[in-house]
Amino acid sequence: MLKAVILIGGPLKGTRFRPLSLDIPKPLFPVAGLPMIQHHIEACVAVPNLREILILGYYPASELTQFVAEMVQEYKINIRYLQEFMALGTAGGIYHFRDQIRLGSPEEFFILNGDVCADFPLVEMLEFHKQKGNKPLMTMLTTEATRQQSVHFGCIVQDKDSHEVTHYVEKPSTFVSTLINCGVYLCSPELFHTIASAFNARQQEFYTEGAGDGKEAIQLERDVLMPLAGTGRLFALQTARWWSQVKTAGAAIYANRHYLELYRSRRGERLARRGPGSCQVLGDVHIHPSASVHHTATLGPNVSIGSSASIGPGVRVRESIVLSGASIADHSLVLHSIVGRLSRVGRWARVEGTPCDPNPNKPFAKMDNRALFNRDGRLNPSITILGCSVTVPAEVILLNSIVLPYKELTRSFKNEIIL
Ligand code: GTP
Repeated sequence: MLKAVILIGGPLKGTRFRPLSLDIPKPLFPVAGLPMIQHHIEACVAVPNLREILILGYYPASELTQFVAEMVQEYKINIRYLQEFMALGTAGGIYHFRDQIRLGSPEEFFILNGDVCADFPLVEMLEFHKQKGNKPLMTMLTTEATRQQSVHFGCIVQDKDSHEVTHYVEKPSTFVSTLINCGVYLCSPELFHTIASAFNARQQEFYTEGAGDGKEAIQLERDVLMPLAGTGRLFALQTARWWSQVKTAGAAIYANRHYLELYRSRRGERLARRGPGSCQVLGDVHIHPSASVHHTATLGPNVSIGSSASIGPGVRVRESIVLSGASIADHSLVLHSIVGRLSRVGRWARVEGTPCDPNPNKPFAKMDNRALFNRDGRLNPSITILGCSVTVPAEVILLNSIVLPYKELTRSFKNEIIL
């Protein structure tokens, strides 16, 4: 049997996702109508013989309880949230909860970073891992990035024929390789010996050099992958399927588009269809069954409307996520934006961001993980985000702006952060 571990971090992580992560843990932010890590769970459930999913993080357990209960009910599989007492690092939680992971003697276990969105090729990884005769400790998923982007990720040098990882560098200062670490791994339980060595080395440093700066945490990338590279037991499977990291709200819009596209081929029932009395639907659109959308509204492409949201007559929404309980009044326009939970957009208003894809045919060009500010300290033109319970009055324009929760706007704004 197999298991999976999903790493979700905690409240100190995901800062670039604010203000959307202020009222909901980032791993539960809905993308294409589902909490981000529900997509991971669906990918895991589709793997034959995968019996348990462990979610590891340092969010208070109370923030995950309801989600976990819903997932267990929906997928009828063992799912548990294990809370780290502090940020233990990407390998620290795995080591701390090693007995829980090894319980039931899984042959292998997956590790998935909670902040990536992808068409996860888990079954292919399993087949690839099993083909490798000389007992691999780990198979990691890799994808091709551009030279410029690669240095922001873990970079992999592999043997072209055997796909053995011969060299691994985390966020190198100069170019190493265009093959990057996707944050999706398949591990043999023997990997715990390697993590134990990393843990012991860290403990030594801790006692000789003292605590501080997260020294006690063990990172999978730095403390496990780097030493494993070149030992003949670390392999990489390259994928050409869609993959992206979700660090910023802009990246959530990008991921929303791609998960909706996957629904088209696999879960058509999740996409809205034009029917008698329905609104105008263009391209891929997800509308929660409890949302109310006026039949004269036009939605799409690439739009997700959350539960109990209300979309008025003549409204136009495109490339956007409207979260639960939000309302958009008559004839307003929402483009390249995220409308937070319970926010209200008045009549004839425009809430607009700037599209982030210079070349939509290059998969990496479309990923928007730009920092909030550019080097001059100015706001990067990007999507518009309304935090939760924001009120936008009638007839105003909000362009490339970020509005913090509970703010009642009184006028138009452009390229501003409204505190
Ligand atoms: P940044 O660019 O700094 O965000 O680094 P990164 O892209 O390499 O991401 P990072 O290694 O920090 O995190 C990878 C995944 O592990 C994310 O899904 C995090 O939420 C998760 N993660 C990070 N730190 C911890 C931790 O201490 N405990 C757990 N359980 N998960 C973590």
